[in-house]
Amino acid sequence: MTAPLKHYLQFADFTADEYAYLFERAALIKRKFKAYEKHHTLTDRTLAMIFEKASTRTRVSFEAGMYQMGGSVVHLTTGDSQLGRSEPIEDTARVISRMTDAVMIRTFEQARIERFAEYSRVPVINGLTNEYHPCQILADIFTYLEHRGTNSEGKPDMACLAGKTVAWIGDGNNMANTWAQAAALLGFKLRVSTPRGYEVDTQLAALDGTPASKGWQNFADPVEACAGADLVTTDVWTSMGYEAENEARKKAFANWCVDAEMMAAARPDALFMHCLPAHRGEEVTAEVIDGPQSVVWDEAENRMHAQKALLEYLLLGRQG
Ligand code: CP
Ligand code: NVA
Repeated sequence: MTAPLKHYLQFADFTADEYAYLFERAALIKRKFKAYEKHHTLTDRTLAMIFEKASTRTRVSFEAGMYQMGGSVVHLTTGDSQLGRSEPIEDTARVISRMTDAVMIRTFEQARIERFAEYSRVPVINGLTNEYHPCQILADIFTYLEHRGTNSEGKPDMACLAGKTVAWIGDGNNMANTWAQAAALLGFKLRVSTPRGYEVDTQLAALDGTPASKGWQNFADPVEACAGADLVTTDVWTSMGYEAENEARKKAFANWCVDAEMMAAARPDALFMHCLPAHRGEEVTAEVIDGPQSVVWDEAENRMHAQKALLEYLLLGRQG
């Protein structure tokens, strides 16, 4: 059985109903993984992974996940493929999608992954672009539900997101844009605080061309943004591809370090998340990231469980 062709290029590509299915399926897949039960739904399927930027979690989670589902992977980087010698992305898409069943790409511009998807015969997954990181937010919301939104049957309950508040502290980057889309789509509030000049781009945070601003609010003061939050989250000051701005960013972001004061402004049961890799002493103190409210290791692990559900959904459609 094969599902109709569908890509996952940004968070807004799926409906709330599809997310509810994915979270429930990810929970089942995780339970089976923990119990050493086989879950070979992707036997003989191959995922191509193209990395034009570095990765630890994305690579390991997709690669281990495919093997655990009975499939296999092909790992490519710009440097070791013809992409690094200027083969057009359209030709690369045509060729790779004739030999594999799905493609995960980590690259620079969103337009590049969109061009790949246009010429691909198989589902394409965004493993991070300059603009978005949907697989990470998929895992983050799954992690939140695991900790704060599980129903009496032990299943993730998306209804619990209604009225909840996420505080985004730091750069208006790919993670922030994706949180903004998720807030508008799944109905929670997002309080954003970025230094001036690093704001969330309203167009990128838009949902299918509709401004997502109804879901989020800006605050000049990061402590104020954390007030009453159920989840406080941040990311590196300098994302991959922006390294030349590193020194300027260190100065601009000095007050956007998630610390005990910010966590104290949030609800007492607030969680802390970070997609990792983290720089202790920059965007977050060691006290917070290594403290009792931090769920960053569950968050990292859940990349794998959530993406297994995603791969299965894109390749086979709804199961069970
Ligand atoms: N969070 C995340 O995407 O990590 P990697 O860059 O290690 O893949
Ligand atoms: N915003 C970061 C996320 C890394 C996983 C980056 O794009 O480098």
